[in-house]
Amino acid sequence: MCGIVGYIGKHKAYDVLVKGLHRLEYRGYDSAGIALLKDDGTLNVYKAKGKVANLEASLSGKDVEGTLGIAHTRWATHGEPNDMNAHPQVSQSRSLAIVHNGTIENYNVLKEALVQHGYTFTSETDTEVLVQLIEYVKQENRCSLFDAVREALLQVVGAYAIAVVEKDNPDTLIVARKSSPLVIGIGQDETFIASDATPIVEYTNQVIYLKDDEIAVISRKAAIQILSLENNLPSQLNIQTLRLSVEQLEKGGYDTFMQKEIFEQPSTLCDCLRGRIVDGGERVVLSGVIENKERFLHAERIIFVACGSSWHAALIGKRAMQEMCQLPVEVEYASEFRYGNPYITDKDIVIAISQSGETADTLAAIQLAKSKGAFVYGVCNVVGASIPRNTDSGTYIHVGPEIGVASTKAFTGQVTVLLMLALCAGEIRGTVRPDTIKEIASALLRMPDMLTEVLKLDPVVSELAKIFTYAHNFLYLGRGYNYPTALEGALKLKEISYIHAEGYPAAEMKHGPIALIDQEMPTVIIAPKDSLHDKIVSNIQQVKSRGGLVIAITNKGDSAIARLANYCLEIPDVPECLTPIVASVPLQLLAYYIAINKGRNVDQPRNLAKSVTVE
Ligand code: F6R
Repeated sequence: MCGIVGYIGKHKAYDVLVKGLHRLEYRGYDSAGIALLKDDGTLNVYKAKGKVANLEASLSGKDVEGTLGIAHTRWATHGEPNDMNAHPQVSQSRSLAIVHNGTIENYNVLKEALVQHGYTFTSETDTEVLVQLIEYVKQENRCSLFDAVREALLQVVGAYAIAVVEKDNPDTLIVARKSSPLVIGIGQDETFIASDATPIVEYTNQVIYLKDDEIAVISRKAAIQILSLENNLPSQLNIQTLRLSVEQLEKGGYDTFMQKEIFEQPSTLCDCLRGRIVDGGERVVLSGVIENKERFLHAERIIFVACGSSWHAALIGKRAMQEMCQLPVEVEYASEFRYGNPYITDKDIVIAISQSGETADTLAAIQLAKSKGAFVYGVCNVVGASIPRNTDSGTYIHVGPEIGVASTKAFTGQVTVLLMLALCAGEIRGTVRPDTIKEIASALLRMPDMLTEVLKLDPVVSELAKIFTYAHNFLYLGRGYNYPTALEGALKLKEISYIHAEGYPAAEMKHGPIALIDQEMPTVIIAPKDSLHDKIVSNIQQVKSRGGLVIAITNKGDSAIARLANYCLEIPDVPECLTPIVASVPLQLLAYYIAINKGRNVDQPRNLAKSVTVE
């Protein structure tokens, strides 16, 4: 939530910053702003409500010179989205400007103290409080900008990634982080900072991921000094090489990122599976599991923690882990787990699932689980993000950057990794038969081809979407492995089309939601030929006999369902535990086309942000 970007070097900062803001816009798009510092000490700050394009449009003819600058794209937490509350926020004397991602929890107390000292505030943001505090400390202590930022941050409770510039200090950029991500890119006589590597990758692949409670002083000639906030001791510069290309960050001929990401799934699943299924498809090897064999062997319980689509993937993982590892498995919303005083022991394995690797609730759940002695395993996409750095071990899903706000390829990647995890751990525990491993592992290897097949449904789904674009409510039903698929299908539709949709276990429908069924409300039923096929046929009958319209996701040639459903979308036959992967693709397409028909911005749906770094 919120993206920050900064530049100091020999080139015009504006160009780098605006391009960077576009790359970070997935993190929030309520407002955008930029502060540019010229060599003569002029500090120009510009802000605009709405998207980065609004900011750009408002800057035509304005002075955008300067080789040092910071910029921000906002997902509002404190104060409504307007120009006043947009970042950068400036101090009272207008000598300091700051951009901030995170929340200052004790901002009210700090604000009251500053008011006592004569400070006035023009915004409702916690960020303005921080910049005023830095100014106050600087004036009181007559200290350097670095010392003032450090001293102020020691008074702050909360989460932040910040970048600060000072009017009379055109050669210095100060950054710091606690619980919000910040990457420093090292160029030739120039340095970049950003919430993630996407604004940096086209200039350099040499980066440093700032750690929690670190502060860095970056000077014009690319000199970087990183220190501990707590004791002011220097930290070692751990320079890493990015494995990210600019092409991965572009639409590549598709209309939207979401469309690209749906259609990329055959190749992203290849990347996700690469090197993990060995011995001619007989075994699954995940290094994170193998290296911690003993933990998996002696585990007494698995607890998944996640949010949103990642939580849906966890529900699928639960079923697979239960079956293949013969262990009790629980699935918790990270936000509930962290405040639920959970009973955890050192025999528990807590598996945290997160595309971004930055979700605040999931991070907090991890800290809690660790403090209670659990072994914590991460399943993440973004390499080097906070969650993989805070877990004991883990597996990356390796599906490449997901830029559309709605999760698509990350979800299928997560499910794929969780199934591999269940097979690999099940083999270690001796709880899954070798022929079962072989059957599922070799079917996993065929999944990219299966997804290519499913994607041929695109024109059919696009036509179907025209019929249902103006429905006000949808019901999604599934059973077993596909109850979570139903939840995920409903979430996709509601988040990008703003149509109300509910996912339900198909058999639960008769305990309440059946009352909603009429000709106005389509029911999407995920009904592959699995162990619950006969049951779901009855559930379809129950909907039909109440006049409901049914769109069924079925296997080819399923005449029982074809006779009942109004519309069928046919998916290939795969082992039961893999059906959520093939079934979720037509649901992604259905949500996509309905949203497009309604004129929605599918990549940046209202009120949402890709990386939820606040509670
Ligand atoms: C829905 C979606 C969100 C995320 C959720 C968790 O399409 O993308 O529900 O799944 O915000 O995010 P991560 O996986 O980054 O922790």
